[in-house]
Amino acid sequence: MLTGKKITVGIAGGIAAYKAAELVSGLVKNGADVRVVMTASAREFIQPLTFSALSGNTVYTDMFDSSHRYGVTHIELAQNADLLVVAPATANIIAKAANGIADDLLSTIILAANIPVMICPAMNTVMYNNPVVQQNIEKLCQLGCRIVGPNSGILACGAKGPGRMSEPREILQAIKRFFAPDLAGVNILVSAGPTREPLDPVRYLTNRSSGKMGYNLARAAAERGGNVVLVSGPVNLPPPAGVELIKVETAEQMRRAMLDNFSAADIVLKAAAVADYRPKHAAGEKIKKNDDAVALQLVKNPDILAELGQLKKHQILVGFAAETGNIQEYARKKLEQKNLDMIVANNVSEEGAGFDVDTNIVTIIYRNGDMKKLPRMSKYAVAQSILDEVTAYRSERFGK
Ligand code: CTP
Repeated sequence: MLTGKKITVGIAGGIAAYKAAELVSGLVKNGADVRVVMTASAREFIQPLTFSALSGNTVYTDMFDSSHRYGVTHIELAQNADLLVVAPATANIIAKAANGIADDLLSTIILAANIPVMICPAMNTVMYNNPVVQQNIEKLCQLGCRIVGPNSGILACGAKGPGRMSEPREILQAIKRFFAPDLAGVNILVSAGPTREPLDPVRYLTNRSSGKMGYNLARAAAERGGNVVLVSGPVNLPPPAGVELIKVETAEQMRRAMLDNFSAADIVLKAAAVADYRPKHAAGEKIKKNDDAVALQLVKNPDILAELGQLKKHQILVGFAAETGNIQEYARKKLEQKNLDMIVANNVSEEGAGFDVDTNIVTIIYRNGDMKKLPRMSKYAVAQSILDEVTAYRSERFGK
């Protein structure tokens, strides 16, 4: 499956370095040509000999080692490969990568890379939850790196929470998916962001949605080979590469754009936070202040997702439920009422979840009552996990 693929594996200094041996072994068994780079700290945990035996190649550890047959090692390893995988990626190497620091061979390779880069974070939970680390991961994400994991569980230090490196088989799967995109040729319609309902030419009603979840879904789906149409309310985010962007403002405009693109879609991910109501009248002129109190008359907006649920034929329809309590009960009700295949529920009042943050904590609920609770992860990692679930469901249902 990976025959002929050249993969550079960077190993930083964390206890998960031992798991990199299984990863390298798996890559080699799948036919890849693997070259390993280790930091000095990684060598405190595991010997280079393990990796030279597993990969059948020299292991690179020193920036200035003149014995290597290549002219300029860091350029060779960073550019003459199909993929660079950093596993484990410690908080330190992530910080260096996010800020352009190149003070050893691995960080220099990351900086010199003009090939795709995959980062597999591994660290203590408190470190992982540190906003500095989260910002660095988000920055790498925005710069186009693929982030795999981390998982949640018991860590080497005894703490429990997110920070465990993804299992070698999960990383291997992500690498295989990178080379054989599992959504190639699949049409994916995503909606993201809030809607804006005008009151007059200068005022509107809206909500706190940042669009980050939907944009990450669009980006991850495009990376996996999907033909992605992103219908977006007003947000402050750069459009993801390779995605067709349709900008809308109001719920009615979003409804139109979703309906126009629905019949061609195979998968619909309805992450937008649609305003449920709009002002009955949008004034043509700015409303002047007058009395001490004013009453706004609001009328109901169309429920776009419920309408798509009625029209659904071959499409897999995924809804989102933003709740502040009784999450599962409300989410299940929406799943039924809107005729969805699955719903992604989150508690927007929980720290690290919901609007305008870079992480999310979600539970995916299926029609048959099955549930999958995911740990707190970056919205990009959540997006990848949602797509994993959708593709598994799709192949079970349609054999695709
Ligand atoms: N949704 C929609 N059109 C609306 C309202 C919601 O398409 N007018 C979609 C959202 O995009 C989301 C799902 O329905 O995928 C659930 O949205 P949410 O705001 O959680 O629920 P509501 O159905 O609006 O119910 P409530 O606000 O009462 O919780």
